[in-house]
Amino acid sequence: MTPGDALLDELADLTDEVRSLVEALARSGHREVEKGTGDPAWPSAGSAPAPRRGSSHPPGPRPAPLASDEDAEGAWSRFGGTGDPAARLEALRQRVEACTRCPLASTRRHVVFGEGQPGAILAVVGEGPGAEEDATGRPFVGEAGQMLDRMLTRVLEMKREQVYIANVVKCRPPGNRDPTPAELETCRGYLEEQLAIVRPRCLLALGRHASRFLLQSEQGIKTLRGTWGAWHGIPVMPTFHPAYLLRNPADKMLTFQDLKVLKARLAGGR
Ligand code: URA
Repeated sequence: MTPGDALLDELADLTDEVRSLVEALARSGHREVEKGTGDPAWPSAGSAPAPRRGSSHPPGPRPAPLASDEDAEGAWSRFGGTGDPAARLEALRQRVEACTRCPLASTRRHVVFGEGQPGAILAVVGEGPGAEEDATGRPFVGEAGQMLDRMLTRVLEMKREQVYIANVVKCRPPGNRDPTPAELETCRGYLEEQLAIVRPRCLLALGRHASRFLLQSEQGIKTLRGTWGAWHGIPVMPTFHPAYLLRNPADKMLTFQDLKVLKARLAGGR
């Protein structure tokens, strides 16, 4: 296949995606797709109806009874912890980078601790590092990371630097296999400590592993996504993992809806 053929294939895929998004928007009663976001795969942040308090929600997301910011603050306060959060996070990073508690320590190139600042209003939780993250020590820097960046900027209208990003396991499972239950359990405390220091107002769980882990559920992501859950009283919005969306672009519409619900809540809506 020549580069020209590949480009034409890509254009054909994009055209199909635009068509299915427009059809889905029309089915949900929305007639206009705003122009000019530059990525036909993500409607612009303003283009779908925001959830209204007490309204029945478009397919998928159903707002749960919501905690206020004060409630989230109350929930976090039970974790305790004193001292400068940036210093505590840095001390934790050093401990995690020296971790040898599970066999992943012997195959990793880098520990991928996470990125972002204490006080970020949103924490994004992924599964575990892939090859590029293992090579660089940074979360979500591969293709899935680029998709995550588009989800953040084009739908949530947030920059990557405004959110905290971490994974449930900090070292790459070889060959990108799923983390084992033992690996997830061994790493659990690190994520919990990270979140307790950062104290985000909401959590975005990407994919099956992060969602099941945070929500203590055995359900699949297709069941969990789009419905608010809670982790120690902190609201969690589960949605598809960006790597899944790369393979299943038609489901971007569902993630778009989930992110809109999250966005409304972060903006103070219910
Ligand atoms: N997938 C994840 O779940 N996390 C990363 O950091 C990269 C890819």
